Amino acid sequence: MTSKAKILIVDDDLDSVELLTKRLRAEGYHTSEAYDGEQALRQVEEYRPDVVILDIKMPKIDGYEVCRRLKSSEDTRLIPIIMLTVKRKVPDKVKGLDVGADDYIPKPFDYRELSPRVRYWAAVKMEVEERVRRIKRLEQELIDSERLAAIGQTVASLGHYMKNILFGLKGGFYLASTGSKENSTDSLKTGWEMLERNMGRISDLVLDLLEYSRDLEPEYENCFPNEIANEVCEHLGAKAKENGVEIIRDFDPSLQEVLLDPKDIHRCLLNLVSNAIDACLFDPDEEKKWVVHVRTVSENDGAVRFEVSDNGCGMDEDVKKKLFTTFFSTKEGRGTGLGLLIAQKIVQEHDGTITVESQVGRGSTFTIRLPHRDGATQGAMVNEGHQT
Ligand SMILES: Nc1ncnc2c1ncn2[C@@H]1O[C@H](COP(=O)(O)OP(=O)(O)O)[C@@H](O)[C@H]1O
Ligand SMILES: [Mg+2]
Repeated sequence: MTSKAKILIVDDDLDSVELLTKRLRAEGYHTSEAYDGEQALRQVEEYRPDVVILDIKMPKIDGYEVCRRLKSSEDTRLIPIIMLTVKRKVPDKVKGLDVGADDYIPKPFDYRELSPRVRYWAAVKMEVEERVRRIKRLEQELIDSERLAAIGQTVASLGHYMKNILFGLKGGFYLASTGSKENSTDSLKTGWEMLERNMGRISDLVLDLLEYSRDLEPEYENCFPNEIANEVCEHLGAKAKENGVEIIRDFDPSLQEVLLDPKDIHRCLLNLVSNAIDACLFDPDEEKKWVVHVRTVSENDGAVRFEVSDNGCGMDEDVKKKLFTTFFSTKEGRGTGLGLLIAQKIVQEHDGTITVESQVGRGSTFTIRLPHRDGATQGAMVNEGHQT
């Protein structure tokens, strides 16, 4: 196998190149040659040798420099280099090894001395290549198996969640049909409500899954963050009121028009405010006057900050750790556990950050920070149809 190796001979002495070429070919190697440093570097790139036999004294770039460059490049550093020199002095040998040469043979050399060295280094190169290939294969196998494990876990959680919905649907169907057979309005009503609730859950799940798996870049538009925040408060106003939660709007009037995807940010805030209202509902302290604060802030560097705070149940460290994981929900079948994951994905697509502070029994604050994005005026002109 090593006799098929490709050897690059680099020497400015034509005779010695010719002699070496003849000898090496007779042993079954493929060879190529270069007569100065520049040519050597080019040849290494084109010919991709397994071993380089390199003379030190050459015009333009000398052998030391060629060696240093080959050994400092990620692409070529594994190619063994055997240095040839007329100098028998120890400092030169040290310098050769110092620039990374793998071996050193003084000139004039006896071919019988060089031959086993070439064979040895060609074998080393093959072995190294084989190991690198093996490591790459193992790395890929590891990535594949981790991916499969993650998919398996996701499918298991999804299956479990859907099984619960299916039980709800079956139960609702059973109650509704016996209610109608036996003329029991109570059963019919309860069954019907169960059907309705579980239809809602499956529809939430499907929409969340589609949103989460969507692979689109944000569609940036010029818009006013306060307007988006206001729409979200309007949208959830009824749900909050029904449950005795007050939504307080605290919008920064200095917040200008910015470039973001309004639909995405709306969705993101909707998830946070909706969670904040839920946190009040899950709060056992009935005496509390529950409030959800929705704040917007214009930061000095042009970034926009949204803050959603509640004085609901808060969360412990364990919940905090799992917040942004797939299907994590403490809402016993009433949540898909995808809301925060979707919010995080949207924020990351906007190059922003989402952070959380929380204390059990005191409440939580979610903060989204979106950095300033250039091109606001241009976007405004396009939106208004004033394209130039
Ligand atoms: N404001 C909050 N206060 C307390 N817990 C929260 C809050 N927001 C999120 N959580 C916790 O994070 C979990 C995951 O939230 P989310 O991803 O929106 O899923 P879901 O709302 O469907 O449960 C919730 O079930 C809840 O335990
Ligand atoms: Mg949620």
